[in-house]
Amino acid sequence: MIGDVPLDLPVSNPIIGRTNELERLAALTGLDETSPPASAVLLSGDAGIGKTRLLAAARARAEAAGRRVLVGHCLDFGDSVLPYLPFSELFGRLDAESPALVQAMIDKHPPLRRVVPGRRPPTDTGDDPAHRVDRGELFEAVHATLEHLGGEAPLLIVVEDVHWADQSTRDLLSFLFAHGFATPVSLIVSYRSDDLHRRHPLRATAAQWARVSGIDRVELSPLSDSDVRLLVRSLHPERLRESDMHTVVERAEGNAFFVEELVAAAASGGGALPRDLAGLLLVRLDQLDEGARQVVRVASAAGRGIPHEVLAEVAGMDGAALEQGLRDAVERHVLVPAGPDSYAFRHAMLGEAAYDDLLPGERVRLHADFVRALATRVAAGTAAELARHARLAHDAATALRASVLAGDEAASVGGPDEALAHYRMALELSADEVTLDRAGDPVDVVELTVKASAAATAAGQVHKAIALVQARLDRPAPGITPPERGRLLHALATAVLLTDSTVDALAATTEALELVPAEPTPQRARLLSTHAGALADRNRDEDATRWASDALALARELGLGDLATDVTTTLARLKERGGEPEASQVALEKVIEEAHASGDPAELRGLHHLGGIHLEQGRLSDALAVFRRGAERAREIGRPWAPYGVDARALAGLVAYQTGDWDSATSLVDVAGQAPPAVAEALLAAVGLSVAAGRGDHKAVELLPHIRPYWSQEGMIAITTAGASIDLFGDAGDIGGAIAVHDDAVASVGGLWQNPDFAARIRLGALLLGQLAAEASRTAASERVAIGRLGGTLLAVAERAAERPAKMGRRRGREGDAWLARARAEHLRLRWLIGIDVPDAGELVGAWEHAVAAFERYPHVFEHARSQARLCAVLRSSGEAARAREPGEAARATARRLGAQPLITELDSLGAGAPGRRDEREQSHETLTPREREVLALVAEGRSNREIAERLYISAKTVSVHVSNILSKLAAAGRTEAVAIARRRDLLTEGVPPAAVKDRTS
Ligand SMILES: Nc1ncnc2c1ncn2[C@@H]1O[C@H](COP(=O)(O)OP(=O)(O)OP(=O)(O)O)[C@@H](O)[C@H]1O
Ligand SMILES: [Mg+2]
Repeated sequence: MIGDVPLDLPVSNPIIGRTNELERLAALTGLDETSPPASAVLLSGDAGIGKTRLLAAARARAEAAGRRVLVGHCLDFGDSVLPYLPFSELFGRLDAESPALVQAMIDKHPPLRRVVPGRRPPTDTGDDPAHRVDRGELFEAVHATLEHLGGEAPLLIVVEDVHWADQSTRDLLSFLFAHGFATPVSLIVSYRSDDLHRRHPLRATAAQWARVSGIDRVELSPLSDSDVRLLVRSLHPERLRESDMHTVVERAEGNAFFVEELVAAAASGGGALPRDLAGLLLVRLDQLDEGARQVVRVASAAGRGIPHEVLAEVAGMDGAALEQGLRDAVERHVLVPAGPDSYAFRHAMLGEAAYDDLLPGERVRLHADFVRALATRVAAGTAAELARHARLAHDAATALRASVLAGDEAASVGGPDEALAHYRMALELSADEVTLDRAGDPVDVVELTVKASAAATAAGQVHKAIALVQARLDRPAPGITPPERGRLLHALATAVLLTDSTVDALAATTEALELVPAEPTPQRARLLSTHAGALADRNRDEDATRWASDALALARELGLGDLATDVTTTLARLKERGGEPEASQVALEKVIEEAHASGDPAELRGLHHLGGIHLEQGRLSDALAVFRRGAERAREIGRPWAPYGVDARALAGLVAYQTGDWDSATSLVDVAGQAPPAVAEALLAAVGLSVAAGRGDHKAVELLPHIRPYWSQEGMIAITTAGASIDLFGDAGDIGGAIAVHDDAVASVGGLWQNPDFAARIRLGALLLGQLAAEASRTAASERVAIGRLGGTLLAVAERAAERPAKMGRRRGREGDAWLARARAEHLRLRWLIGIDVPDAGELVGAWEHAVAAFERYPHVFEHARSQARLCAVLRSSGEAARAREPGEAARATARRLGAQPLITELDSLGAGAPGRRDEREQSHETLTPREREVLALVAEGRSNREIAERLYISAKTVSVHVSNILSKLAAAGRTEAVAIARRRDLLTEGVPPAAVKDRTS
């Protein structure tokens, strides 16, 4: 009979949030107490908000405290209600568990039998007056039974969903509430508050219950946004894009059931209202009377909120009918008053469900009515609404005009995303010539395109901006004049210069200069500036300076303050590249101050370059402060995702990572609760990956496929991701993965920048060299040659990339210096470990000392420590244990502070920095037994344990014992390292038995 018993289903996912509510229930009903007082609680909340889940948690707690818990449900059976349903369930369950107890209770209180399924007298049809049980007697019997049970052990009774309770159940509950219990019996009754409209039978009863003294109420409110996020993650452990997460959080409005449905729908790729959810919502709408339904239909077409007068006009209902319909919709919790004179859906998805339920023709007609109603009162802020209704009413001309207006409105109040959406809609509509004609006052498509691309850039979608302009340029539109083409080319170059793209900005500005009239107009001045930028981008610094100076002069002449700021920034940047960082810094600081005072977004560009200068000079904390300020300012002026703004944030994260403030780095790049464009999210995630790699969070590689698609949009994304991934793969022992991700990034960035020897290749090469060296200790002799060859290539490329700045008359920054030193040191270490072209000990140690010092001048905390660790390693194996001590201990202290697990592991394998073990190890190398030397000689030839065993007539097991003794005596991390150490100390030739020697020469 009772099919739906959710409380007994195992609840696998943990309950999220609800700590306060659970504590409150615990306090009210003494959940965990062994002798709680009797109590009663009314638990209410919207459908799907999580009442049942909370009660399941409460039940678990009560049972854990040794209480008996009995649960009964009311079910939605419409009119064919079975009386006392939840009590039948609850006693039926008890009867199944403890039939003797129930029998005893029935013997004591015979009317109880009436509510115990299977024990009801067969003749009890309820109609026969001779057998009809007096209700009062039944109530007394139930009460007495519960009280008796409570006397045995504290009892918790849960009656769920009493909004569906029949009259008899409600009366029984009223009786129990009114009488209370002399033993510890707690009663929790739950119901859906959104079901309790004015005429609902429970409404009056619940009001009465609430007046009974000793009854408490707990109202479940929606889950907080952060709890919703946790819930989404528990339902969908794979990462959702932040923007998808954001959509779920926004739409669900804290309702757990909605979250589940939306996540399921998102997983199956649908944006529409999930079917189950729509069904559930439509049930609510079906309960409305006809007038209310009409009101709701109209409101659903309006979107979220609707002013009373617009509603009245579109609904076409007379005053009284409208009032009546509204009242019903409000009472049924479908609409809520929003503001003094308007209405909104209580939950946005109710509106969606109602809208989806409209017939197609009905929708078009309604939207047309809205167009008429709004057309007469277009005021500020309504263009967007008018555009939407016109589009859905298939009135394209009105939609086009209104969309342009809406875009302008949004752009002027700093809503670039909305502006972009409106302009794009306008562009789409304007593609139709007839619409364009009909739109009346001329809509300038070139102007529209330029505005759309500017909005896209401001919204952080620079590649979209480029695509929009290119699409217009590519159209065989006979109507476009040469000056118009010039404008478009200028817009194209402007966007291209803000990102990484294979489009030729310089070609665009060069052509534009010929097409745009040569008169001293603002447009011309801006074009000159962009042209200077394009030249600078191509490293033609002298030409760039000349054009920038012209642009500056014209900007001043025309009084274009923002442009003057921008050009001054370009000039300052050129100065820095020309070898005058101090002068550049002074100029930039001035520009920043002026731009800040006038609220000019050019401030962000100034900050960006200023931070860059600090970085080049190795002043990391100054750089960090400047980048932080840039990120902050971008947020303040409503352009957090625009170029320079988002870059400042990413760079702040990166520099915080370098300075060893990994927690700040993590929080700087955390976009939870924000809705970044996908490329910005990828950029910030890439920075976060560096910290993950440093900490050895191997699960982070799962992010790689999410970030990879954006490598082609920003070289920095590829480089940052690859740097971190080389370590993530390498530290997990997957050298193939490390090589692949390195090569992938090199190909991707090399193509994007049209330069295979870009500067970051020094760093990527050094990182991969480090992993190759680690791998060398693990691989067989046969593979070492290949590893050595790859190492040689990596170093050669790094050297080449390091020479580039000088070739262009520039200086290499300190970071470049540091990575070059590191690459050289890693390469020597690799050669030493694989025993090919083995370097001299002094050279090896010197190179590592150099790397350590270089990472002091460019104070990258983690890489400094890694360099120290490797310096320690090479010192130890060249027998300089005493000198090895200090760098080892310093590296360990840093690794501990950062929580850099892979580095700690590396140090552990050296035994470095761990006091006590060193001396012991130090002496042991002298004491290799003759047998161990024999084994070592064979290991040096790359023989496997089995081969050695055959050669020496001993078992492979014994060989492995010898090998591990050798490793520990030599303090080597692996076979290869042991051989390298032995070679250095001349342990291989002394006392090697003739057989082995002979074999080596053959
Ligand atoms: N705090 C929570 N943590 C994890 N999951 C939750 C939480 N709250 C609710 N859920 C899940 O959301 C869904 C809806 O919750 P639940 O069934 O408890 O809602 P309800 O308020 O009882 O709804 P109804 O009024 O329809 O009975 C369930 O699958 C439940 O497991
Ligand atoms: Mg429930």
